[in-house]
Amino acid sequence: MKFETLAIHAGQEPDPNNGAVMTPVYLTSTYMQDGIGKPRQGYEYSRTLNPTRKALQDCLAGLENGTWGLGFASGMAATDTVLRMLASGDHVVAGNDVYGGTFRLFDKVLRRFGLDFTFADTTDPENLAEALTPSTRIVWLETPTNPLLAVTDIRAVAEIVKAHPNKPLLVVDNTFATPYLQRPLELGADLVVHSMTKYLGGHSDVVGGAIVGKNKELGEKLAYLQNAIGAVIGPMDSFLVLRGIKTLPIRMDRHAANAEKIVAFLEKQKNVKRLIYPFHESHPQVTVAKRQMRNGGGMISFVMKGGRDEAVRVAESTNIFTLAESLGGVESLIEVPAAMTHLSVVGSALEVDPGLIRLSVGIENVDDLLADLEQALK
Ligand SMILES: Cc1ncc(COP(=O)(O)O)c(C=O)c1O
Repeated sequence: MKFETLAIHAGQEPDPNNGAVMTPVYLTSTYMQDGIGKPRQGYEYSRTLNPTRKALQDCLAGLENGTWGLGFASGMAATDTVLRMLASGDHVVAGNDVYGGTFRLFDKVLRRFGLDFTFADTTDPENLAEALTPSTRIVWLETPTNPLLAVTDIRAVAEIVKAHPNKPLLVVDNTFATPYLQRPLELGADLVVHSMTKYLGGHSDVVGGAIVGKNKELGEKLAYLQNAIGAVIGPMDSFLVLRGIKTLPIRMDRHAANAEKIVAFLEKQKNVKRLIYPFHESHPQVTVAKRQMRNGGGMISFVMKGGRDEAVRVAESTNIFTLAESLGGVESLIEVPAAMTHLSVVGSALEVDPGLIRLSVGIENVDDLLADLEQALK
């Protein structure tokens, strides 16, 4: 099946009991057993598995061209569960522009458990090759990154990682692109991680995370950790993400179409110093972006000439773009990363320009969005 069909049908069968077309929200924590050790259809306890979560997990596997998926309470819970495969003394190479919360988990929390991290500019795969050590177990990529929209060539990195004697796992956070734009498992990644809070959910009404992969053994190891740690997504939230995913392809097309028109407007603005969009000719990795992504997505970052004060004034002056953290919903959002989402990296090597504004372009009428930005920039 093609992607648009999978988005609606993967993992979702009419309910065998009554034919309900939409996956029911199975609000149950436990399941009747036919005898000791004889659970019905494999369900025993909802931390381990729940039918609504299973439908979502199978849908995610279909979309990423994996063979299994796992649903978590948040993107960070998914990330943390991946890292729990490691042991004290293990080393991780991560991109130097990863989401601030990912950096905080790695640098501030997991170092305390004896894990070691090197943050490298993965947009040049050679940097990554140099950062690998005999203890490296995971290479963690985000592409495009949050908030600088840097793009890394997943296939090139996969080749380096596979050639390394340790065979570290290549994990790609695919939150910004979604599987509609980019499928890392097809490019050589071992695992894909998502914050489903963003485009997969798509309506800013749910927090969730996911891990998807192909390798059966890895899937079993992570399902074991998912159950052991217990940071699972609940049935109602699973339902909301499943519903969001049904319109993912048409939403992503509209996000990108609106973003392209806004990019064309922003590049003409005199008070904008630097514009960042993966499919814009000025983007340093535009060729890689066009090769591995279907379109440029809905995220735009730009730096105001007037620095932090001007960025704050613009972000506080929009009417349709809502000043808020997060991204990927149907509604347009604006934020100043250095003062909001990326406060946790201030003072570190990952600090972002204080004059940077990040837009999550929604699917409203683009003329209204352009008029809103025009009055705010004035
Ligand atoms: C790229 C990326 N990965 C992971 C996360 C964390 O996801 P969550 O907020 O669902 O825990 C975010 C959140 O903004 C993100 O942007």
